[in-house]
Amino acid sequence: MSPLTITRTLPADATAAALRADVTHGLTRTPKQLPPKWFYDARGSVLFEEITRLPDYYPTRAEREILLARAGDIAAATGARTLIELGSGSSDKTRHLIGALTGLHTYLPVDVSESALAAAGRALLSDHPTLTVHALVADFQEGFPLPGTPGPRLLAFLGGTIGNLLPEERAAFLHRVRELLAPGDALLLGTDLVKDEATLVAAYDDPTGVTAEFNKNVLAVINRELGADFDPADFRHVALWNAEREWIEMRLRARKELTAKIPALDLAVTFARGEEVRTEVSAKFREDGVRAELAAAGFTLSRWWTDRAARFALSLSVRA
Ligand code: SAH
Ligand code: TRP
Repeated sequence: MSPLTITRTLPADATAAALRADVTHGLTRTPKQLPPKWFYDARGSVLFEEITRLPDYYPTRAEREILLARAGDIAAATGARTLIELGSGSSDKTRHLIGALTGLHTYLPVDVSESALAAAGRALLSDHPTLTVHALVADFQEGFPLPGTPGPRLLAFLGGTIGNLLPEERAAFLHRVRELLAPGDALLLGTDLVKDEATLVAAYDDPTGVTAEFNKNVLAVINRELGADFDPADFRHVALWNAEREWIEMRLRARKELTAKIPALDLAVTFARGEEVRTEVSAKFREDGVRAELAAAGFTLSRWWTDRAARFALSLSVRA
């Protein structure tokens, strides 16, 4: 059995400090907002996996369809010996790629969720016993050290997670990704595509309430980590399409006027009835926009594949 290593790049108190800063900043500004990475504690990671199985949440199935059809092309085009994956979660779809990359030596999944990394690493090694899996608990929006591994490298960022970054954050993120790679290395990027509003909203507002529970999980994280007294039942999950920005916005709307105490921050936060916190955006893309954003960060888009229904795209780019 070859090794599964899990490296934390951040001490636990750095994570705690980042949460305190994000909550202080986000809940004392108008309009209120929180960054999405705090959804993903162990419970949040399990809830996200449930979302991927919802009938109306098409991105996971669409991206899997593309990966199944194109994994061989990706392997031939890149010849990758190291596969880095940011926001890898369960690494479930990535298995199709790992299976096709015949010369693969090391898989380096990077995620903020240590529980997701541990489960994914164990599952992968049982199928690929000769693979070296080196998992990194890290924030992909910060700089982090990558262990020296053989090239060529392929860096995958799947699930449409790039859409959860704001446009300025996306530009900074893509520049950082470029710095992680050498000339000739490749980037495999999953982007959800602009489509009709009803399909988009249904994907983020399911009738069974799993998405609502996932969205409200950020309140459970704040309660546990910062001793706050939010009652998730006081909030309603809201998903709406912003046609001008071409993104879905997830919000939590206070059902009544309320004040939540956050003892660790020595803070009390008041919500008017109907006041919302924006917890996430999920931007949807068009081919020209993706190509331009990649070019601005020093990547040349070489392949663009969609699923048969053209709901989702995978693009392969080369670092210039
Ligand atoms: N790639 C998987 C999971 C997508 S969900 C898929 O396509 O299904 C987004 C993943 O990114 C989660 O596993 C979450 O824990 C992780 N994540 C979110 N923000 C992050 C950040 N800032 N740094 C590292 N990982 C992050
Ligand atoms: N990366 C996922 C996406 O944008 C995250 C996600 C899916 C999500 N459903 C959600 C985030 C519901 C908040 C609420 O599709």
